[in-house]
Amino acid sequence: MKNIKAIIFDAYGTLFDVNSAAEKCKDKIGDKWEPFANFWRTTQLEYTWLRSLMGRHKDFWQVTEDSLDKSMKAFNINPSMKNELLNLYKILSPYKEVPETLKALKEKKFKLAILSNGTPSLLKELVKSNNLNNLFDDIFSIEEVGVYKPDSKVYDIPVKKYKIKNDEIAFLSANTWDVSGGGNYGYQAIWVNRNNNIFDNLDYKPISEIKSLKELINLI
Ligand code: LAC
Repeated sequence: MKNIKAIIFDAYGTLFDVNSAAEKCKDKIGDKWEPFANFWRTTQLEYTWLRSLMGRHKDFWQVTEDSLDKSMKAFNINPSMKNELLNLYKILSPYKEVPETLKALKEKKFKLAILSNGTPSLLKELVKSNNLNNLFDDIFSIEEVGVYKPDSKVYDIPVKKYKIKNDEIAFLSANTWDVSGGGNYGYQAIWVNRNNNIFDNLDYKPISEIKSLKELINLI
């Protein structure tokens, strides 16, 4: 990859494990913790897309709570667990290679930032609770433009802030539709495919596919 001036990361699912909140409660939830976590995530994303299409924005924290309500009902989870799950969502665990990879990229003097659906205070807390706050130059939230990914207004945020060209950004996401969103916008988009998933055909082919963020260090 050439001429990269900034490396931008998606947060949920890419740096932080969205299933880790439910996983930490697996003793109480039982075997269904994983399908429940996947359903919660899918519903949460559907709500972001539907709200953007309807022009009825609610912030990511509210959408996370609304989608949790539906998921808890769908999986018959005791309502008393709601606050525990929400509190754990605020401090999701990063994937294990994340801290060392960010440190290595920072040493190479790259500008590092997050671009996420998350609300600014939620992202700040998430990064701080995992001691990653000194590694990022910026944390960009879609709240700046009031519409969710993959609207191009979102991908415009770092380009405007850094006054660089679209393709001077390396964008990393584990969410295939987010890779396509950023790639179609003009980023050099890389798919972080940790679980051997299938890429969606949304008119974009990632410039690279990696299994762990660590591989980025040799790519860039
Ligand atoms: C985010 C979602 C897409 O962090 O995971 O923006």
